[in-house]
Amino acid sequence: YEVTWDAAAAEKGGYATFMEKEIHDQPHAVGDTLLGRTDSDGRLVLDDMSITEDQLKDVDRIIIVACGTAAYAGMVAKYAIEHWTRIPVEVSLAHEFRYSDPIASERTLVVSISQSGETMDTLMAVKHARELGALTLSICNTHGSTIPRESDAVLYTHAGPEIAVASTKAFLAQITACYVLGLYLAQLRGGTFADDAQSVMKELHEIPAKLEELLGRMDRVKEIARFMADTRSVLFLGRNVGYPVAMEGALKLKELAYIHAEGFAAGELKHGPIALIDAGQPVFIVVPGPGTPHELHKKVVSNIQEIRARGARTIVVAEDGDEDVVPFADEVIRVPATSPLLAPLLTVVPLQVFALHLSTAKGLDVDQPRNLAKSVTVE
Ligand code: AGP
Repeated sequence: YEVTWDAAAAEKGGYATFMEKEIHDQPHAVGDTLLGRTDSDGRLVLDDMSITEDQLKDVDRIIIVACGTAAYAGMVAKYAIEHWTRIPVEVSLAHEFRYSDPIASERTLVVSISQSGETMDTLMAVKHARELGALTLSICNTHGSTIPRESDAVLYTHAGPEIAVASTKAFLAQITACYVLGLYLAQLRGGTFADDAQSVMKELHEIPAKLEELLGRMDRVKEIARFMADTRSVLFLGRNVGYPVAMEGALKLKELAYIHAEGFAAGELKHGPIALIDAGQPVFIVVPGPGTPHELHKKVVSNIQEIRARGARTIVVAEDGDEDVVPFADEVIRVPATSPLLAPLLTVVPLQVFALHLSTAKGLDVDQPRNLAKSVTVE
């Protein structure tokens, strides 16, 4: 018999699309981005930090500039970096930053996040930051690309080449790199959190295995996607770090299935968006773990109750063992437990898989969606 080996299939590692392959590459993307970030006694080190430690100790403000999915990675990172370092972190869409007459000084650290390192909006924001005298650090997945070359320092992610236009593994690697930066700064600057940095790094190192396990239980998500192939609008709710995850889930669905989708902060519901809820409206809700501070878990469970009472079809992403969500959920998609600030590395995965399979169910081009380019090199 003759073995005919499809070269493209080989490139896709046997998966039907690059996006599916890249979703399954995510344990490595996170693990490889963590490699070499701690020395023999477990202290955090960064290999390519051309900004001096004294300059970093003097930083009094961080501005993250990015676009699209990369901006949502920055929004996730804001919560963690502020919690660990007590440095104020602002996330500014790169194309807005440049024209907003921004305030920056030599004590401002402008962190750009870009998979390609060629996004013109982000590059122009970095150039503007330098003109203002700010320190610039690039978090980038493409060695030697333009944005790192224009920056004072670079912290490379190691997600490997991302071929699918819709970003998945680069997103997780960007969040991971931001966490490493935040923990490094916390350790460098001392303060209440410095000693915990190593225990958080330990938890981060457990994420790849949790991702691997999670990726093995996506069958129900695929069924839900196929069942919802004709849906025309999906809402995504999240709170705290789950809010940017909801935004990213909505973006994935727009990009891949061309469906109107919108991410909201769950607390925003009563301030208007709840008017959108009518019978059968599908809503994904990313629920904080039961141990999350400030009773956020309880607040989100009551948000689910509110929309369910108004006819929403609630698809809940919740931690293993969280039984509080069950009475109000039409579907419960379980993710492994982890500490609240690291949860986005897991809770986004079902949303990626959902968008992938809904796009497939509609017979659309998953890897090259209409109107989109992998890197937007024009303003
Ligand atoms: C991701 O799914 C999108 N295709 C898009 O939002 C992308 O994240 C954005 O254009 C930024 O690209 P970059 O990371 O290469 O700068």
